[in-house]
Amino acid sequence: MKNAAVLAVLIAAVVRGQAPVNVMPAPARMMRLPGEWTVDATFRASITGYRDESLERAVQRFATALSAKTGARLDGVAAPDGKSTTVRIRCAGPGRDAANESYTLVVRSAGVELKAQEPLGVLRGLATLYELVNVTTAGAAAPAVSIEDRPRFEWRGLMIDVARHFMPVDDLLRQIDGMEMVKLNVLHLHLSDAQAFRVESKVWPKLTADGSEGLFYTQDDIRRIVAYAQDRGVRVVPEFDVPGHTKAWLVGYPELAAKPGPYHMGADADVAHATLDPSKEQVYEFLDRLFGEMAALFPDRTFHIGGDEVTGRHWAASPSIQAFMKEKGFADQHQLQAYFTGRVYEIVRKHGKTMIGWDEILRPGLPTDVVVQAWRSSKMMARAAIDGHAVIESGPYYLDFVLPAGYHYRMDPVDTASFGISAAEMEMAKGTPIGPYMTVDKVVSGPTPLTPAQQGLIKGGEAALWSELVTAEMLDGRLWPRMAAIAERFWSPKTVVDEDDMYRRLAAIDRDLETIGLRHRTNSRLMLERFAAGYGATVGIFAETVEPIKFYGRHSRRSQPGRPPEGRALADATPPENLAIRQFEREVRSAAANRYGPQEVRDHVRAMLTVWRDNEDRFAEAAAENAALRPFLPMSRDLAALARAGLEAMTFQEQRKRAPARWLETQLALTGKYKDQASAAAGVVYSILRPQPATELTLAVAPSIEILIKAVK
Ligand code: ACM
Repeated sequence: MKNAAVLAVLIAAVVRGQAPVNVMPAPARMMRLPGEWTVDATFRASITGYRDESLERAVQRFATALSAKTGARLDGVAAPDGKSTTVRIRCAGPGRDAANESYTLVVRSAGVELKAQEPLGVLRGLATLYELVNVTTAGAAAPAVSIEDRPRFEWRGLMIDVARHFMPVDDLLRQIDGMEMVKLNVLHLHLSDAQAFRVESKVWPKLTADGSEGLFYTQDDIRRIVAYAQDRGVRVVPEFDVPGHTKAWLVGYPELAAKPGPYHMGADADVAHATLDPSKEQVYEFLDRLFGEMAALFPDRTFHIGGDEVTGRHWAASPSIQAFMKEKGFADQHQLQAYFTGRVYEIVRKHGKTMIGWDEILRPGLPTDVVVQAWRSSKMMARAAIDGHAVIESGPYYLDFVLPAGYHYRMDPVDTASFGISAAEMEMAKGTPIGPYMTVDKVVSGPTPLTPAQQGLIKGGEAALWSELVTAEMLDGRLWPRMAAIAERFWSPKTVVDEDDMYRRLAAIDRDLETIGLRHRTNSRLMLERFAAGYGATVGIFAETVEPIKFYGRHSRRSQPGRPPEGRALADATPPENLAIRQFEREVRSAAANRYGPQEVRDHVRAMLTVWRDNEDRFAEAAAENAALRPFLPMSRDLAALARAGLEAMTFQEQRKRAPARWLETQLALTGKYKDQASAAAGVVYSILRPQPATELTLAVAPSIEILIKAVK
């Protein structure tokens, strides 16, 4: 008995010693210490050194969030050096404009010490401490650690397109909570586009009166968003996209347009081609007054003017614009846009801001204090840095491609060959229309050597979520948890690249994100139930095996007759990356590699395959009642066939038999149908040019089952 008790204590100690560290982004430096800090109702925090109200709110917020996570009632901020203080925070001084986000955090069984130069560092340290706490049946505790942390990049952004689909204030505030947790610091709002203008202008009221469906942010809304973000260490960068993407402006103010009006809300050819007229002085007077108003409303030092995807069609068709170009000696639309950009630059500068634009604004002579946001290829990022511009890299981080977190995670912001259209794809794409928004410029990927000084101009990265296919209800699910992996790429040292470890931590962060109030799982479930109309269990089983088709495959199918509106398709309810499939793949690899065990893993794989196999008939019954399910009947049948094949493969394996060649051929033909769309290997252009699958979903579990099949080859 005595020995057993000793053993139990020893095992408990070992288990405790192995408590996982689930911090994301991974800290710059971290050392494990013996023991752990137990979170219970004795929790008090104290702040010494510099303190202000924002900092006190942050600590109170932390205590509230930790209470919700652990179930312990925590009392928040105590008097400095109070007896029961367990989290001692020391902040050296107030924040400055060039914010210092570094901090040190030491967690021991006796308590926690968090030190920072500025309040921002305290925020970052509290986010780490929140994540460190593991909740188990034994209680809540953080493993003892010593951390020294600071960001790799100063710009760690997220762009949300609130123009294509309006995102209500509360939905945005929730995303800012998530951003704070994973230490992102820039929220870039794409506030206007062809579809709508989303901020109240008192100077030009028709921008929203005529250029929105009544869904826009009042100036008070904006002040609320900005203040909320500021409290959480997040800057808000506004974007007003000019001169293209401006149709919504022209509904109320057609006199600004390159092509005579009238303009109307709704989908028509003007969506892609409507453009401001760069030859009219009136346009610059309009922008001066608007940008003056908006520069005062958004306190950030930067101001984004868009500048992307000007098709030039309306410029080419306008005799007065053509005459203007001739008079100025402009050879092409790019020189005309460069002139426009130069005029807008003067306006933005006059209002005290640093201008940012998408990489199309990069032209010889662009003032070097303009920041370039690269999106078409990493080559553009390199070009901008070579020309002396500060650069934000975005191309590899387009969340609307609905790719797995690992795809983005592998892309480094300073890698000049990471993202772009390959020369081979360019060749394939020649002369092929690929949708109203895709301009295939001569941008190709490939390494471009940069000097250390040029590398230093790369200020960070920004993920982008364009919302053509994203409703407010879908927002959380299209962002989280993948955004956390990208946040790690922007914050953590370049050497942090272990993808398995990233996914392990992502699963924990996924739960934390739901705990702090994000709705990615909840809304997905609600949408699925609505879609399934009473068949939630059956459709849910099917949905666990699929993902939306990748890149812009769904965009190019938008005008298909009978397609449900955004937010009403099964592909909308389905997460971009199904973490359950990833877990299944891990188990399959283990089962395929080891015929004799681990038995519990083999049992679980069999159980999953059996559930999928047996879902076929129920799905067919549901589809007989619910017409929306019918397009997925072939995929449901394929799932059942593959599940059967997976079970057969496991039996072959257990009997130490090789599979018959004919059997193998049949199964691989089936998995082959889904392999390409399920993988992120295909490029953007390639994915658009290829014949699209019959539905907006791909059977994402197929490659995992293929592993089992190939193991008995
Ligand atoms: C962009 O994706 N049009 C910047």
